[in-house]
Amino acid sequence: MTAKIVVVGSFNADLVSYMERMPRPGETVHGERFATGAGGKGSNQAVAAARLGADVTFIGRVGNDVFAELAYEIWDAEGINRQFVKRDRDVATGVAPILVDSSGENMIVVVLGANLRLRQSDIDAARAVIAEADMLLIQREVNLDIVPYALGTAKELGVATILNPAPADGASRESIKLADFLTPNEIELQTLNGGEFADVDSAARSLLTRADQTAVVTLGAQGARIVTPAETQLIPTFAVDAVDTTGAGDTFNAALAVGLSEGMALPKAIRFANAAAALCVTKPGAADSAPRREDVDALYLGAK
Ligand code: RIB
Repeated sequence: MTAKIVVVGSFNADLVSYMERMPRPGETVHGERFATGAGGKGSNQAVAAARLGADVTFIGRVGNDVFAELAYEIWDAEGINRQFVKRDRDVATGVAPILVDSSGENMIVVVLGANLRLRQSDIDAARAVIAEADMLLIQREVNLDIVPYALGTAKELGVATILNPAPADGASRESIKLADFLTPNEIELQTLNGGEFADVDSAARSLLTRADQTAVVTLGAQGARIVTPAETQLIPTFAVDAVDTTGAGDTFNAALAVGLSEGMALPKAIRFANAAAALCVTKPGAADSAPRREDVDALYLGAK
């Protein structure tokens, strides 16, 4: 079956500098390479889901500049429905200066621009498509009023939701109550818990307010941990040589959405998502490094 996914979220033009090591505050270091690419957590998730075979609709905003063309180019190449993307004439498309070191680790600044112009009316316009979807996937790189509104709309329409609480801050908790699946990484889990936490399981469990909510905490090279009010389980990932971790979380979320929408049980959907994220980190770039379905299936099915 073809998964129908609606992604509400950001598009950013990623301005990526690759270097041996990150600069310290006040220090200048030499970069080895620079690249401009399609990014933004929302758009990366949409592209990754489309490459995994899903029928994807993206809801977002771009600005009045050449970076918007970068967005249209990749969405059209991947067959993503962009009928509900508006172009703001008086604001810039989101941009993200990114530093990537030789271990593949990254640091990102997002300047969200047009992403902050997303309105409730944009969600309302897509209501019929949301009603037909298997899953609505959303992050937090948009106007934050929209996050609970989009999650609430999906809930009202009986559509399952994944909230990727990235970037996280204290205000995320309102939206967290509405989501079916929460997918923080460890840093986001820490932020959502107001700082340090004793262990992943209790920190993730403290976010859950309903018996039917599930946290899937992404743990990088270790894999991902399922935390429900009743149980926990680590799903290990695949060992790969990381070149650039940018977009790995986005690919994970997209694959999780696709797997669950195709009817996979949660542990299986997470193994599928781990395989997709593992392949993503072996290539540079964000959306550009999202893997194709046949490659994910080869890694994931081959490992059984
Ligand atoms: O998750 C990676 C993404 O975060 C990048 O593409 C960047 O645009 C920021 O949104």
